Amino acid sequence: MTPAAPRAAVAAAAATIGQALAAAAASLKAAGVAEPRLDARLLLAHCLGVDAGRLLGWPERPLPADAAGDYAGLIAARAARRPLARVIGRREFWGLSFAVTDAVLDPRPDSECLVEAALAAADRARPLTVFDFGTGSGCLLIALLSELPLAEGVGIDCAPAALAVARTNAERLGVGRRARFVASDWGESVGGMCDLALSNPPYIRRGEIESLAPEVARFDPRLALDGGSDGLTAYRRLAPDLAACLRPGGVALVEIGDDPAGPADIFAAVGLALAGIRDDLAGRPRCLVLNRAA
Ligand SMILES: C[S@@+](CC[C@H](N)C(=O)[O-])C[C@H]1O[C@@H](n2cnc3c(N)ncnc32)[C@H](O)[C@@H]1O
Repeated sequence: MTPAAPRAAVAAAAATIGQALAAAAASLKAAGVAEPRLDARLLLAHCLGVDAGRLLGWPERPLPADAAGDYAGLIAARAARRPLARVIGRREFWGLSFAVTDAVLDPRPDSECLVEAALAAADRARPLTVFDFGTGSGCLLIALLSELPLAEGVGIDCAPAALAVARTNAERLGVGRRARFVASDWGESVGGMCDLALSNPPYIRRGEIESLAPEVARFDPRLALDGGSDGLTAYRRLAPDLAACLRPGGVALVEIGDDPAGPADIFAAVGLALAGIRDDLAGRPRCLVLNRAA
C-alpha cells in the first residue's frame, strides 16, 4: 500500500465517526500496525480533542470535513509506521506528558524501572544532585525531580536538538528551575559531582537495528540506539566518566539490553559495584543498581 492510500481510504469513508474508525483501522491493519483499532481510536480522539473512550459511543455522529482531512493525514503517517507518540508529538511517562520530536528517543515504559530504583535509593530528607547521562527527552531526570522536591539535576546529551526538547519538557512539567541541560560527550564537559546518576545509553547491537520494528529502526534517532558491534560501546565510554563524578556512597542506575554481565563487568572495572538488578514490566532484567563505596 502506498502512503497515499490510507489517506484516501479514510477521507472517502469518513462520513461518520464509526465509518472513519473502521476505515482507519483497516488501513492500519493492512500496513502491519500491531494494534490498529486502538491506534485508530487514539488518533481520532487526538484529532477531535476528546477522550478516546467516548468515541465508541458515537458511531453515528457525523465527522466534520476538516477533522476528516486532519484524521486522514494522521492515519497516513501511522500507516507509514511512524510511532503513535511521534504522530501526536507526546508520550506519557511516569504519569507525565512529554513532548517527543524526531530528535529524541520515544520514551519506553520499561525505563520507568530506573526511576523506581532511583527513588528506592534516594534519601528524600536531604538535597540531592542527580546527573542523567544521555537525557534525550529528559524523561528520567524530570520524572525523578517531580518526585524529589529537594533534588536538582543535570541532563547531559551530545545532541543539542535533544537538549532543547528536554529543556522544554522540564519547564512545562514544573521542574525547570531545578534542572540544567548540558551538551557533552558523556562526562567530558560536565563539572561537579552527583549523589545519584541515571543513564539509559544506546545499547542495541549495530547489526540488529535494521531487524527491529520499523517504528524503532526508522524513527528513533540512530544515536539513541546504536551500541556498536557488541552493544557495549557506550557503556565503555560512559563508565569512567560516571565513576569520576559519582560521590562516595552514591548510586547509579543504568539501563541494560539483555545480558547484565557485560555492562556489570565494565562498571566493576571502574569501581562501581553491582548492588542489584531491577526487572522491567515484562520481568526482564533492565536496570543495574551500582554503588560507589563510601
Ligand atoms: C537510549 S537514548 C535515552 C534517552 C532517554 N534518557 C530515555 O530514556 O528515553 C540515549 C541517549 O544518549 C545520547 N547519547 C548518545 N551518545 C552520546 C554521547 N557520546 N554523549 C552524550 N549523550 C549521548 C543520545 O543522543 C540519546 O539521547
